[in-house]
Amino acid sequence: MTNVYCNPPFRITRTSHVCVTTGDLETSSAFYQDIAGLKISYQDDDAVYLRGVEEVCHHSLVLRKSDQPASCDAIGFRVLHDSDLDAAERYFKDLGENVEWISRPGQGRTLAVNHSSNVRFELVAEMEMRPRGLDEYQSPRGGRALRLDHVQVVVPDVGPVGDKFIDMGFRASEAIVEPDSQKRIGLFLHRKNNPHDLVLAMGAGPRLHHFAYVVSDLQMLFRACDIAGTMGVGNEVERGPGRHGPGNGTFVYFRDPSGHRLELILPPMQYMDMEEQTRIWSAGEKHMIVPWGAPAPQRWREEATHFTDVPLSDGALARWTSR
Ligand SMILES: [Fe+2]
Repeated sequence: MTNVYCNPPFRITRTSHVCVTTGDLETSSAFYQDIAGLKISYQDDDAVYLRGVEEVCHHSLVLRKSDQPASCDAIGFRVLHDSDLDAAERYFKDLGENVEWISRPGQGRTLAVNHSSNVRFELVAEMEMRPRGLDEYQSPRGGRALRLDHVQVVVPDVGPVGDKFIDMGFRASEAIVEPDSQKRIGLFLHRKNNPHDLVLAMGAGPRLHHFAYVVSDLQMLFRACDIAGTMGVGNEVERGPGRHGPGNGTFVYFRDPSGHRLELILPPMQYMDMEEQTRIWSAGEKHMIVPWGAPAPQRWREEATHFTDVPLSDGALARWTSR
């Protein structure tokens, strides 16, 4: 596993962006500006492109207008160099995977992978640059979200799908397994130096469960919650604030006006030394996986965003959860 991480077939560096649809661009855009604190890089009649306060890349979130039920067009990963896109094309074609070159405003060459797992992702090496907003102290908005950190995707078969991403160079920082069978039902995969770029959780899928932005501190986390309440959407503060055992993350989850789930987190721990082994959590250790706080609400366990035009697997709709 570590060898592939060190010598991947192409070099993914991090989670780059998420593309979701909405029936109401204006309302969705206002949500991400006023509550999360994202900034608009570009907009037209069909889409809004947003980025975090710390981000210099053109966008980390794309809201595309659609009259169809809200869905996720793709999740995006950044690769280190333009040549990694060509390496990725060769890699996927050799495996018989379906790939195509697409264009998206603000992005350089982009390789879309219609992956056999049905998880829709795209790879990009470059974006247009925008000013970093960290020194704009006079105009904080919402939780002043700094940067996109990770996405979580629900899939019916975490083990086999996880292995395909591990073969691409991801490394498993943590895993949740069933006590008796040791079957993987949750898997934290990373390329950058924290526990997660892509998290897989067992359930009917593939579906996008959430995407997560980092905020600077607890005050900003609560500020986002307070503003949601002030705006009359306090009921859409869906879960938390709370603490995850795996990843040691501090979280709060929101539902946006289209139902997509946004997580705000505090800066995650660092994860970079190669000799560190995957930390295994038993699903039976519920008191450790969610050490305190109320159980996850039913809608957090059952509802997630479908990928655009991708059929759902059979099986229970709920995402696996520890309590
Ligand atoms: Fe998360």
